[in-house]
Amino acid sequence: MLTKQSPHVELRPLVRSDLGTLFAWWDEPEASYLDSGDRAGPEQDFRERVLHAFDLVGMDGWYIIEDVSKRPVGYVLSRFYPEDPKRAEVAIRLSERYWGQGLGTASFDALLKDLFRNNGVLGVWLTVYVFNRRAIRLYERFGFAIEESFLDAKGMELFKMTLPRTTWNDMNRSEACG
Ligand SMILES: CC(C)(COP(=O)(O)OP(=O)(O)OC[C@H]1O[C@@H](n2cnc3c(N)ncnc32)[C@H](O)[C@@H]1OP(=O)(O)O)[C@@H](O)C(=O)NCCC(=O)NCCS
Repeated sequence: MLTKQSPHVELRPLVRSDLGTLFAWWDEPEASYLDSGDRAGPEQDFRERVLHAFDLVGMDGWYIIEDVSKRPVGYVLSRFYPEDPKRAEVAIRLSERYWGQGLGTASFDALLKDLFRNNGVLGVWLTVYVFNRRAIRLYERFGFAIEESFLDAKGMELFKMTLPRTTWNDMNRSEACG
C-alpha cells in the first residue's frame, strides 16, 4: 500500500519504563486536541490508573513505534471487544516533532499487516474527530471509509471509520494471504 519511499519503523510491545515517555506525549497540546478533543490530555488520576492497570495486567495491544535510530516516536494500539472479537479497534499517535515524515503511514501499515496477516481479523475500525484532516487522509489512503458520525460527551463530532478485510485484501492483493 505504501507508495512513496517509506521510512523504516519497528513496532515493539510497550513496557513499563515507556510509561514516562507515553505520559510526556500526552502532555503535547496539539496532539492531545487532535486525538481527544482536549488540549490538556489525560488527568493525573487517569495516568495513575494506567500505571496501576499496567502492574496488574500489562497493556496488551499497545506498541511503541521506533524509528530507524531506535528512537521512540509514538505508539499504535489495537483492542478487541468480547461482543465483536474478530474486529479490532485501532489507534495511532506520534509525538508532534515526528509528524509529516511518513512515520504514521509506515507504522499504520505495519499494524494493519500484523492484524490482517497474523491475527486473522475480519476488519478494523477507529474513531476520529471530524476536524482531524491529516489523520482522516491517512486512514482513507489505507481504504478506511466513514461508516457513521456521532457526538462525544463534549458535543464534538467524530467519525467511525471501518476497513473490512475484503477491502484490505483488494488494496494489498500482491501481498495478501487470506
Ligand atoms: C495522524 C498522524 C498519526 C499522522 O502521522 P504522520 O506521520 O504525521 O503522517 P504521514 O507523514 O505518514 O502522512 C502525512 C503526510 O505526509 C506525507 N509524507 C511525507 N513523507 C512521506 C513518506 N516518506 N511516506 C509517506 N508519506 C509521506 C504523506 O503523503 C501525507 O500527506 P497528506 O497528509 O498531505 O496526504 C500524526 O500526525 C499524529 O500522531 N497526529 C496527532 C494524534 C492524532 O491525530 N492521532 C490520530 C487520532 S484518530
